[in-house]
Amino acid sequence: MIYVVGSSNTDMVVKSERLPAKGETIIGGEFLMNPGGKGANQAVSAARLGGNVTFVCRVGDDLFGNAALHQFRNENINTDFVTTDPTLPSGVALINVDVNGENAISVAPGANNALLTEHVIPALENITSEDILLIQLEIPLATVVFAVKYASNKGAKVILNPAPARVLPKEIYQHLYLITPNETEMQMLTGIEFVDKKSIRQAADQLFNYGCKNVIITLGVMGAFFKTREKSQFIKATRVIQADSTGAGDCYNGAIALSISEGNTLEEAAIFASKAAAVSITRMGAQSSAPTKKEIADYFNR
Ligand code: RIB
Ligand code: NA
Repeated sequence: MIYVVGSSNTDMVVKSERLPAKGETIIGGEFLMNPGGKGANQAVSAARLGGNVTFVCRVGDDLFGNAALHQFRNENINTDFVTTDPTLPSGVALINVDVNGENAISVAPGANNALLTEHVIPALENITSEDILLIQLEIPLATVVFAVKYASNKGAKVILNPAPARVLPKEIYQHLYLITPNETEMQMLTGIEFVDKKSIRQAADQLFNYGCKNVIITLGVMGAFFKTREKSQFIKATRVIQADSTGAGDCYNGAIALSISEGNTLEEAAIFASKAAAVSITRMGAQSSAPTKKEIADYFNR
């Protein structure tokens, strides 16, 4: 089982020529309303690739929350541990996407901020060493720290996608089977700025020193770098025509978890995930762009 603990949002997306500057109004193109949130995106990514997924999140008692629940069930995700907050609204993200598929996002977390330890315990009570916990940083940090320790103490493999970038307590690292920062998050966690390949290696070493067992640093169009105890290597990204990169990192992390759950090595998982993410950026939206295995195969066998 892949347990995903994290956020659920509704994404309000406007695509325009370029991203608006401060104080500026741009007449944009189409509007899209899509299910999003880093946690939900990662859960859907893993499920669509064939994973057995339980998603733990908190939504508001409103239309968006109901729609999200419905969507998770359509994806065959176990929603037994999705709770509804009686007062807070469901999470919402306002997203601008430009013609190159780059974005700017602001999030109103709402009920995501009320996902607490007490909501997570019942979900993770029966987690075992056969299972994976995949978690991000769009929910309260105390809940993240608790869930990570709880699952790792039960022997589960814990994957932390440290997004959006936040400073983490040092005690968390020794509980991580894998951490997957991008270059910004890498700098936040290690203080090492991305300047060249050497800086990436240094940052990965640093995360190892902190206690992480495996590291993948994602570098967007430049690919990714992975480090295990035995091996470290850069992996190239596939060049694709980018429609919308929103949620590409989430698609990547869902695919990593899925591939590891199938018993693949970290290298195999990283190669597979980079293909999944490549397909996702050719399409609009976060969850709406997460591919199936067949869609990945079709895309790369064109
Ligand atoms: O990672 C992309 C996600 O970040 C979007 O779906 C948005 O909801 C924000 O949480
Ligand atoms: Na996309």
